[in-house]
Amino acid sequence: LRERRSGVWRYLEYLPVKDTNKIVSLWEGGTPLYKCDNLAKKLGLKELYVKNEGANPTGSFKDRGMTVGVTRANELGAPVVGCASTGNTSASLAAYSARSGKKCIVLLPGGKVALGKLAQAMFYGAKVVQINGNFDQALVMIKNLALENKLYLLNSVNPFRLEGQKTIGFEICDQLDFEAPSAVILPVGNAGNISAIWKGFKEFKETELIDSLPMMIGIQAEGAQPIVKAYKAQKDNITPEESPETIATAIRIGNPVNAVKALEAINQSNGLAEFVTDEEITAAQKLLAQTEGIFVEPASASSIAGLIKLLDMGAVDKDGKIVCITTGNGLKDPDAAIKASILPSEIECDMEVLRKVIEE
Ligand code: F0G
Repeated sequence: LRERRSGVWRYLEYLPVKDTNKIVSLWEGGTPLYKCDNLAKKLGLKELYVKNEGANPTGSFKDRGMTVGVTRANELGAPVVGCASTGNTSASLAAYSARSGKKCIVLLPGGKVALGKLAQAMFYGAKVVQINGNFDQALVMIKNLALENKLYLLNSVNPFRLEGQKTIGFEICDQLDFEAPSAVILPVGNAGNISAIWKGFKEFKETELIDSLPMMIGIQAEGAQPIVKAYKAQKDNITPEESPETIATAIRIGNPVNAVKALEAINQSNGLAEFVTDEEITAAQKLLAQTEGIFVEPASASSIAGLIKLLDMGAVDKDGKIVCITTGNGLKDPDAAIKASILPSEIECDMEVLRKVIEE
């Protein structure tokens, strides 16, 4: 039976679902853990892995949370689901609600969602509403609709989402033959994922499948770094940022709802939090694509950018087993990739000219 379950539902015994007939799945999880020797060599590291969540059905880790969250909505008989989103959550929820025959309402920050994500949300048939405001404001508004019983809320305030996402931690251990990594580095936005993955590692340790725990390292963008600031000030909660801004629109968030849990994960694991600039993000995105053939969206590349910065600072052990989590597929944000690329040369259908061009 295990073989007939998706990467997430292989871990059914660890998931809060009672009626397996109600499961809504698009075959999520089971994503590759790439050993990245080219990049490791470049950075002077012994062992580097990339856990590529862009390989999920809708192209991001959100599918792991949605399969459990929408299954829960199914168990409850909720006809309408909804979320606020910087893009990926909406794409994922729209797909899982389509598969389960539910109505879906998504609230987006107008003009700040990457093209691929917007296309997905619309195409899966969700009712898409853009607000003249940012993600944090959209989340307040959709929460109000949930409180008015207009919909079942599937942002990461919903604990069933985090239960699904903790399977990233399980899978990493499985793929490393039940040895936990020494450090896990990932982007942080609304701060659910880092909290969820930490929970996964702890559950595997409690059931004695692994005997150590990794440092949890959260990376934010320079223009949206409430968690990093709280971590550096040794506070256990954040001061919200009014106008978050970054090229990594997925993590353009000033008031993360899971901040307390994320800071707990960072501190309990002897981890840390650091910010990276938009330029560092773009450079890392290119580096990963061009040394390892892994194309990720800007937010995801912040994990690689963060690793590079922390190595420069001497804050990460070069001899450790390091896992960077890349949370979303590069195709989600074609604009960002094209802007950072050398555009193709255009020529007439002339062999002489072609020979010249390829020799340049
Ligand atoms: N990476 C990507 C690609 C994301 O889409 C997100 C969050 C994160 C990282 C951060 O994860 O919020 O759990 O700390 N995207 C949400 C969305 C906010 O609406 O799609 P987090």
